[in-house]
Amino acid sequence: MSQQHVYDVIIVGGGGAGLMAALYASQNANTAVISKLYPVRSHTGAAQGGIGAALGNLEEDHWEWHAYDTVKGSDYLGDQDAIEFMCEQAIQSVYDLEHYGLPFSRTEDGRIAQRKFGGHTNNETGKPVRRSCYAADRTGHMILQTLFQQCVKHKTTFFNEFHVLDLITQNGVTAGVIALELATGEIHTFRAKAVIFATGGHGRIWDITSNAYAYTGDGAAVLARRGFPIEDMEFFQFHPTGILKLGILITEAVRGEGGVLINGKGERFMEKYAPHIKDLASRDVVSRAIYLEVKAGNGVDGKNYVYLDARPEVINKFALLDGKTRPDGTPYQVTAEEITQKIPDITDFCLTYLGVDPVLEPMPVQPTAHYAMGGIPTTKFAEVIMDEKGTVMPGLYAAGEGACVSVHGANRLGTNSLVDLIVFGKQAGIKAAEYAKANPLQEIAADAEDFTRAQINQLRSGSGIEKAAEIGHEMRKLMSQDVGVFRTEAGLADAVSQLHQLRQRFVNVKIHDSSSTYNMELLNTWELGNMLDLALITAESALARKESRGAHAREDYPKRDDVNWMKHTLAWLQEDKVRLAYKPVAYTHFEPKERQY
Ligand code: FUM
Repeated sequence: MSQQHVYDVIIVGGGGAGLMAALYASQNANTAVISKLYPVRSHTGAAQGGIGAALGNLEEDHWEWHAYDTVKGSDYLGDQDAIEFMCEQAIQSVYDLEHYGLPFSRTEDGRIAQRKFGGHTNNETGKPVRRSCYAADRTGHMILQTLFQQCVKHKTTFFNEFHVLDLITQNGVTAGVIALELATGEIHTFRAKAVIFATGGHGRIWDITSNAYAYTGDGAAVLARRGFPIEDMEFFQFHPTGILKLGILITEAVRGEGGVLINGKGERFMEKYAPHIKDLASRDVVSRAIYLEVKAGNGVDGKNYVYLDARPEVINKFALLDGKTRPDGTPYQVTAEEITQKIPDITDFCLTYLGVDPVLEPMPVQPTAHYAMGGIPTTKFAEVIMDEKGTVMPGLYAAGEGACVSVHGANRLGTNSLVDLIVFGKQAGIKAAEYAKANPLQEIAADAEDFTRAQINQLRSGSGIEKAAEIGHEMRKLMSQDVGVFRTEAGLADAVSQLHQLRQRFVNVKIHDSSSTYNMELLNTWELGNMLDLALITAESALARKESRGAHAREDYPKRDDVNWMKHTLAWLQEDKVRLAYKPVAYTHFEPKERQY
């Protein structure tokens, strides 16, 4: 018999969305966070460049402009009611973070500093606007520290290094989760009136990624196995500037501060692809441009990368050519000290991993798998949706990258991930606590742990003729080759067929570590099973969508097709099959147009 715990609200995941949910839930309900990591080590800590909110601290800005940019950036697939809600709420949410103690960088007169970021514009001039509120290039890290302190203050209980393996439901209602304690290998049953999944993304299914090792899509996979649909998985963002071969993020803020992308011929190639907004076009556009430059033989030394150049003399030269000015109207010119002060972590990463000092040499970069636009479908109040009619699962919520509201549609704008997790994390916390107040705790069935134990037994008793490491390696290579920046029918069909084979081979994996204490082989192998499931859903959803939109670029269907494909995908995993259905996009008043940059 496992250890039993009872709470009103259980939050699975201790990143930005989980902590924000915990902060709000714990003010009205007995709340616990279950996290496979120590919360301050969550992947939110890797978010560098900022959180978007139309504060207008340095120039005119409006949340409606932010909403329009987000709709346009999403290639019109984002749900407009949810986008408007998010962009309006973003402003108060940033002030809330400030009041919780987040040490934002400041303007000279003491207000929250703001910088330019891709796709964020003054809607009247079309020029980049300073909307990203930042704490140097450590914004996500500061959010985690600030929220964790607030949760401790509000007496949230933390179960750190507990890995949630299953959801418990009873009578069609949420009843709790099953988790494994890393330190002991014991199974724990957590009964709760409401559960929030804030488990993050799944970028580790690709080989070059900016994502943490923990980003294996556990929440979405657990729910997919329990019969819930997963939304819009074909849309996965490739950030244009990952450190060559390593994928570690080099923030878009480098371009926001004036850095430029240069190909192997020394050309500022974004002038060709986005003549108006250039290096600050949205990420799908820039990643495709890098890919096309490389394909045309214009990579550095003919190889598969380009340079991101942030040397002050280069920034200053292009700023003069572009006629860029500071908020006071003087020409925009920077010094090496100013750059290093604004991007200290990037300077550190480049020195450590490349031996390159960004103010002295250009940085070699290539697109890196960065962000899941798709995930667990939710309403704008973070309620989990079970079907194309929008039926919600009582007591179940999701927020953050693991969820799909959908505010990012086919492509997310930089800075909007932090907005998403703050705004919808808060909604999840408030709504789950309200639900817990109004509803009873469910009894749970005597066999509630059986599925978890069966999964563990399977991993311990496979034939052993297959190795998890090899299957993982093949999955990552396959996903990068066939389900990457550009896709084709043949490549996607090949990915689907090979993923079916990898999933069959996975059944024959056996773990060799029989210990109970910190058995990471067991958990990492279980995570690989999650990634194989999500990779299959991604490839099947991408194969079915015969158009190009946002991050889903089909070489064989190069145009966006609003007549047939202006709709969200819902995908159900049914044993070894994926069933697809579609639901409409929510409109308010932004008419779909061709995107121009
Ligand atoms: O480029 C960046 O700093 C990443 C930000 C984001 O993904 O929002």
